[in-house]
Amino acid sequence: MGPVMLTRLQLRLGRLYALFTLPRGAVAAEIGVWAGGFSRRIVQLRQPAELHLIDPWQFMPQFPQRMYGGTVAASQSDMDRLYDDVRRRFAGSASVKIHRRGSPDAASEFADGYFDWIYLDGDHSREAVLTDLVAWFPKLKPSGMMVCDDYTWVDEQGERSVKIGIEAFLKATSGRTGRAVLGQFFIAKPSQEAD
Ligand SMILES: C[S@@+](CC[C@H](N)C(=O)[O-])C[C@H]1O[C@@H](n2cnc3c(N)ncnc32)[C@H](O)[C@@H]1O
Repeated sequence: MGPVMLTRLQLRLGRLYALFTLPRGAVAAEIGVWAGGFSRRIVQLRQPAELHLIDPWQFMPQFPQRMYGGTVAASQSDMDRLYDDVRRRFAGSASVKIHRRGSPDAASEFADGYFDWIYLDGDHSREAVLTDLVAWFPKLKPSGMMVCDDYTWVDEQGERSVKIGIEAFLKATSGRTGRAVLGQFFIAKPSQEAD
């Protein structure tokens, strides 16, 4: 098996690992939804009480090497189609709430301490990852869990931007730590923290 296949396999396993370690019946969010493939897995395997799906479904030509900037979607109509597909896919799921809004703005819709867990898989730029973590971490309940996808992702400049963004977040909050497992990064919120 080549290195690209191996990395893909690791990521798949990492996502499954994340799904099986996160609690069932939770109040959860997925930031960055695309076509809702992982959202469907969350619903199937974790049956959340609430699952908030957050994505602007906006074509971003400034990122020509990303799926929503040119490698898969080629225009805003493609993103509109994805959004419509996601709406259709979850039309019968009362627990799924779709927010067509960019992160971190969408975070302001929720009270602090609202979520049991949040799966972060939106804009992978280093600044965006840091901004998202700063905006969403307070939205976790005590003992809640933040999971960041694509920890080892390499951006257009050849930097591991997700990792850099996460490290900047951890550094800014003294004493906070996390752990990487198969391309996923887990940051647990302590049971007692005034975030
Ligand atoms: C890698 S895809 C998400 C894949 C999805 N989580 C899955 O596993 O199937 C990245 C998504 O992030 C979205 N995105 C980009 N910028 C965003 C932002 N500021 N807030 C939320 N989502 C964003 C894109 O529209 C795209 O759908």
